[in-house]
Amino acid sequence: MRTLLLNGSPRPGGDTDALCAAFVRAAKGLTYTVRAYDEDVAPCLDCRACRRQSGCRVHDGMDKVYGLLSQADVLVIASPVFFCQLSGPLLSLLSRLQCRYMDRAYRGAQPGKTVGAALLAAGGAGSPEGALLGARAVFAALGVPFLGAAVARGTDRLPAARDEEALSQARELALRARERFS
Ligand SMILES: Cc1cc2nc3c(=O)[nH]c(=O)nc-3n(C[C@H](O)[C@H](O)[C@H](O)COP(=O)(O)O)c2cc1C
Repeated sequence: MRTLLLNGSPRPGGDTDALCAAFVRAAKGLTYTVRAYDEDVAPCLDCRACRRQSGCRVHDGMDKVYGLLSQADVLVIASPVFFCQLSGPLLSLLSRLQCRYMDRAYRGAQPGKTVGAALLAAGGAGSPEGALLGARAVFAALGVPFLGAAVARGTDRLPAARDEEALSQARELALRARERFS
């Protein structure tokens, strides 16, 4: 099983990373992490070139991500909740998946075998629903079935690394993904 984690946290070793680590430990096979804050990836310009031809005409760090995505059995969107949303750099990177949506909408491309999962960390008691909706919208655009989400809430008081419930949700998701690809 090949897993691609798109990680939107600016904090190595932070809460999102704790959920990712739990997922990766339980996942079988190869995992590859792309940290949105570390990548040289421009946001989608809505230039609409991908309406006329397949792929993105902008070439930057996203070229690597397209390659990884095409090989991924599991796509994980992992992010801290920032103002009820996925983090800005991650949203920016995800916007470049629009050309994959266009392949489906304009050229009838069929979705592959990839399944999706979300890992979210939220500091307050507030709802992570906006971030979850954002992640689900991306999976829907890609035609990727959504396995579910693991959410660490209230990380201001309980860091995700010590949130047994959230860590267990992340492990469960990895096990469900493994069942699909064993
Ligand atoms: C700019 C910013 C906005 C935030 N907005 C929210 C929010 O809307 N809801 C929430 O519960 N936590 C919010 N937080 C707290 C983070 O989601 C929380 O600290 C998270 O666990 C950080 O994850 P990380 O360590 O992986 O970066 C915000 C933090 C920052 C820096």
